[in-house]
Amino acid sequence: MKSDKRLDDERIGEEEGREISHAAAMPSLEISRSVPHHDSCRMATLKFKGPSPYQQKRPKPSDTDLEYAKFLKDFSLQFEGTTEPVPMALFGVGRIGTVHLSGLARNPRVELLYIVDEVCDKFDDIKRYWKLENTQFLSGKESDKVFKDPRVQAVLIATPTSTHQDLITRALAHGKYVFSEKPIAESKEGAINCYKQAKQAGKVLFSAFNRRFDPAFCNIKQRVRAGEVGHVHTIKACSRDVQLPSIEYLRTSSGAFHDTAVHDIDMICWMLGEYPIRVSAQGSAMAPEIAELGDYDTIFITLKFPSGTLGLIEISRHSSHGNDQRVEVFGPKGMLICANERPMSGIESHIGSEGANYIPTYYSFPSRYRHAYLAEKEHFLDIVQGKAKPAIMGHETLAVTKIATACEQSAKEGKFVDLTWGPEDLPPE
Ligand SMILES: NC(=O)c1ccc[n+]([C@@H]2O[C@H](COP(=O)([O-])OP(=O)(O)OC[C@H]3O[C@@H](n4cnc5c(N)ncnc54)[C@H](O)[C@@H]3O)[C@@H](O)[C@H]2O)c1
Repeated sequence: MKSDKRLDDERIGEEEGREISHAAAMPSLEISRSVPHHDSCRMATLKFKGPSPYQQKRPKPSDTDLEYAKFLKDFSLQFEGTTEPVPMALFGVGRIGTVHLSGLARNPRVELLYIVDEVCDKFDDIKRYWKLENTQFLSGKESDKVFKDPRVQAVLIATPTSTHQDLITRALAHGKYVFSEKPIAESKEGAINCYKQAKQAGKVLFSAFNRRFDPAFCNIKQRVRAGEVGHVHTIKACSRDVQLPSIEYLRTSSGAFHDTAVHDIDMICWMLGEYPIRVSAQGSAMAPEIAELGDYDTIFITLKFPSGTLGLIEISRHSSHGNDQRVEVFGPKGMLICANERPMSGIESHIGSEGANYIPTYYSFPSRYRHAYLAEKEHFLDIVQGKAKPAIMGHETLAVTKIATACEQSAKEGKFVDLTWGPEDLPPE
């Protein structure tokens, strides 16, 4: 990427690899002479004063400052490949559909041709709010129009889980790229069929495991893979959310293991680069309404990996203190922790004798994973435009489904479940 001249000028010295000489780093004689002797004696640090910062090598932004990296990209106005936006359709504008709409409506890489939802009385408000004059709004019954429109290159599916397989199948049959919310289908066989169809169609079916695009989790993964803690002995993920889904949602969600634990299972396997050979799980339903559905809202999962690593996942749908999402990786060289992220993380108050107080953590997934949701869509657009290979492969999604099914079986039957893997199932390096 070419950087902008103005920014180049700011980083004076850096690009030229200019060495700062020892002499230049010393305070100039002129300054020392101009300060009376008795004052300069008290100015104990004056001797460390270097040349003007304009003459020094400027620090580079850390690669963890993704917002600055984005700014540099926007500022440089440079791009690779096509500038044409991807003509798309969005299915479902409920909770996660709204998260995705906010990313699509403001994205110059997207031309949002259609929005489809079963609830049509919100269409006028959506159109007005997002200024979508050129987007057509359709009911679920009219969705064929989207599939038959040759302009539509890609669809984003954010509808209830029970509808995914049908929409994916129809989209692929008409040669569209598909971004689908997890899980891909309600059954393993259904998901396998979807991926087979994608292969036949020569299109990508992308499963939205958004945590793989979370900057903090990416950082932990890179450091685990770089061996910072050595061979991982234990890995723990805590995943609690404040936002209890509606009972209607839970009825078609495929159960907590497939609806929510899949995120943690995928994240742990992605960080470790291996799949478990033995799992166990226990679940409880603290909410009677969830117990009535035969589902769980509180879950513990243990995983044993072929390398000996042990994993632990804790899930709760009842977190009154906000979205509580943490990861800890422990090995012989030390420990990596991803603590809770919070808005306005710099604010700390010490009022009276209350002790230190911090701003609460993010409330729920739309805010905690905001960056991840944006990044996964950018990645999908890169795939559609031929600029990237999918970061999440079909066999990885199927492996996660297999593990979640084994965990669910363990919770129901109260026993360990062993898993075997063929070479074709294994995660990428
Ligand atoms: N990745 C994540 O973090 C995350 C978070 C929440 C939900 N999800 C997944 O997203 C999916 C949707 O969850 P949600 O919480 O947004 O549900 P929701 O009930 O809030 O929204 C679903 C929307 O789809 C619409 N709809 C139903 N059938 C449709 C059809 N055939 N065609 C078009 N629209 C239809 C509904 O009217 C509703 O507006 C689920 O599969 C869930 O597992 C993922």
